[in-house]
Amino acid sequence: MFLDRFKSFKEYKTETTPCKIKLSSNELPFSLSKQLRDKIAKVIAKIPFERYPDPTYKELKEVLAHFYGVSSENITVGNGSDELIDILIKSVGDIKSPVMYPIPTFPMYQVSADIINRPKVEFLLDENFQLDKQNLEEAISQKPQLAFFASPNNPTGNSFDKELIKYTASKNIFTVIDEAYINFSDKESFLKEALEPDNNIVVIRTLSKIGLAGIRLGVLIADKKTVSIIDKIRTPFNITYPTVEITKIVLTEGRKEIEEKINIVKQERKRVLNKLKTINSVKVFSSDANFYLIKVKDVNMVHKKLIEKGILTRNMSHLPNMENCLRVSIGKPEENDAFIKALKEVVW
Ligand SMILES: Cc1ncc(COP(=O)(O)O)c(C=O)c1O
Repeated sequence: MFLDRFKSFKEYKTETTPCKIKLSSNELPFSLSKQLRDKIAKVIAKIPFERYPDPTYKELKEVLAHFYGVSSENITVGNGSDELIDILIKSVGDIKSPVMYPIPTFPMYQVSADIINRPKVEFLLDENFQLDKQNLEEAISQKPQLAFFASPNNPTGNSFDKELIKYTASKNIFTVIDEAYINFSDKESFLKEALEPDNNIVVIRTLSKIGLAGIRLGVLIADKKTVSIIDKIRTPFNITYPTVEITKIVLTEGRKEIEEKINIVKQERKRVLNKLKTINSVKVFSSDANFYLIKVKDVNMVHKKLIEKGILTRNMSHLPNMENCLRVSIGKPEENDAFIKALKEVVW
């Protein structure tokens, strides 16, 4: 009875069908080197598991600050950026005021708002998946106090016009730039703007897309005042001891390794998109992320047949303006080749 309002709740759904090749969750397809794993194993063995981790996450923040080139006072952490999104939706402005975001986009903005019944202003992207000025103006006119822009956007893969995002922030709207995929993009980040006080801009990042989805670490970068408040309202031990220790190793000793892997993904994206463009019945969208979107004639059939061939992708056709669209993560070179081969067999 008490939970009745969640009976028809639209929860976050992910692909779980077991498949040999997984190109459905935008993870980095490469695992950590043996050298890093061995180092991690040694450090993990020494963790005092009976103790809580440091609730201020001082050392963790210092490592993250160095990694992102900011001061540790500009950083706070979440159990994945999902948790940071949830904290922001619960705490920024009057929770009776709407939260705005373009659609299609990352579903957690909607999910977190729905959990607390916060009103939403969803506005459509244009046919090229860019921000539409008129739709944006209409959304702003409904007096939201919080806005989310995933740039590069998931599931479309493109980045948004920086000026339109800044314009939103200038309308006295707390504006969150979700840069989960920025490491794969050559476009400018909002990091610099996020550090400035009183310009209503904060950035969220995640380690999930650069090789550490399993440890769940999200990062919020903002001016010191904002960070100190978010630090007060997050739960005190939201990041586990192992996550702290693994991050410290991977972002220091493993930094070069991660950067190399990101570069391979970027090269693979170029190679794969060029190959896909030669398939007549497939429309390929450009991407700044570690995944791309394609449009086929019958996405339900293609998605199902790919699963039969052991390849898991993400069917996006339930979303607005995404009819017959399939989202595909960049995998290892051999996985990408297997996908292209299978797709050709399925669409021809
Ligand atoms: C745009 C965007 N933001 C945030 C996330 C969630 O990241 P995390 O794994 O850090 O919760 C995702 C995951 O797919 C995403 O696409």
